[in-house]
Amino acid sequence: MPSKSCNVVVLLSGSGSNLQALIDSCAVPDSAVRIGAVISNRADAYGLQRAAAAGIDTAVLDHTGFQGREAFDAALVACIDGFAPDLVVLAGFMRILSGDFVRHYQGRLLNIHPSLLPRYKGLHTHRRALEAGDVEHGCSVHFVTEELDGGPLVVQAVVPVAPDDTVQSLAQRVHTQEHVIYPMAVHWFANGRLRLGEQGALLDGQPLSASGHLIRS
Ligand code: GAR
Repeated sequence: MPSKSCNVVVLLSGSGSNLQALIDSCAVPDSAVRIGAVISNRADAYGLQRAAAAGIDTAVLDHTGFQGREAFDAALVACIDGFAPDLVVLAGFMRILSGDFVRHYQGRLLNIHPSLLPRYKGLHTHRRALEAGDVEHGCSVHFVTEELDGGPLVVQAVVPVAPDDTVQSLAQRVHTQEHVIYPMAVHWFANGRLRLGEQGALLDGQPLSASGHLIRS
């Protein structure tokens, strides 16, 4: 257990169920993770209420008040760095991030995505998996690089697709797994087990496979 806890700043735009899972995962003795702040680009994001209920500092930075992505991202960096994070966690933060932003947090920026990357980068992942007739779907945690949804994979959870699945039923099953793998990856990082090396993600000093650590439910 590290002597100093890992200060995590979470960015979100919506419901914040992944934030909630992370908050819940910290309710253990000597948690290595401390959530220092939650920042949203939307004042109405329910995740802000979850943070406040847990006594976590919050900030809102409305992207519509900025002229262009670079200006917003520069202000976002200033806001995040005001909380001196060791790790920045994207938890449903629905903004494409500029190269400058991503480079600034290289090796300490994680994202969760609702598909088995590299399949279905971008939006509407559950619908696309159903339309393709996939028998397996899932979610991925990865280090963020300048390639959208393309950084080194840390962990993936695979879920079976049932013949009668709808977008909603499949999304719910994937979401349940997101709440397992994201806290897991964040605690790995906080405990010094996970890091980004030159060639990709390392867990306990060993290179992870291209698909990351795999979990099947
Ligand atoms: C999650 O399903 C997450 O994987 C997705 O947004 C949702 C946020 O849910 N992220 C992306 O699509 C990023 N490309 P939450 O607000 O309940 O945590």
